[in-house]
Amino acid sequence: MDAVFRPVFSLLGAHHRRLDEVFVRVQKSAADREFPIARETFRRFSLELRVHIDIEEHDLFPLFEKATGMMQGPTTVMRMEHQQIHGLLDEISALLGRGDDISLAARRLLTVLTAHNQKEENILYPMSDQRIARPELEALEKTIQAKLNAAMK
Ligand SMILES: [Fe+2]
Ligand SMILES: [Fe+2]
Repeated sequence: MDAVFRPVFSLLGAHHRRLDEVFVRVQKSAADREFPIARETFRRFSLELRVHIDIEEHDLFPLFEKATGMMQGPTTVMRMEHQQIHGLLDEISALLGRGDDISLAARRLLTVLTAHNQKEENILYPMSDQRIARPELEALEKTIQAKLNAAMK
């Protein structure tokens, strides 16, 4: 009866899409050497992506681990990839700060991020929506919404 209630997939999946769009704007303005715009757009991208990761690690993953009993599975891999993503964000931030070319680092970030997001959308998010108990899932939906809304202001 609850087949269509899939807040994790809907909210975090849609946020992946939004982040992709914002990053395209970062790449465009950096390629045009419009560095003030590139820096400001990247600042927003970076903040939102870090909030997204924080939601996953602190709100979603513990519930996933509890519901599935998988403590050393997908969440371990995702946490490791998040570390890689944080490192690449720092790298791009430094490049933009110096007015340097970001295209190589941007491509590396997109490679990591695309594969990472696909794994979440194909495995972790659907499993979360299926396995986390309804009351917890409803509370999680509200938490995700509140944190994403605050970050997107
Ligand atoms: Fe993630
Ligand atoms: Fe994600």
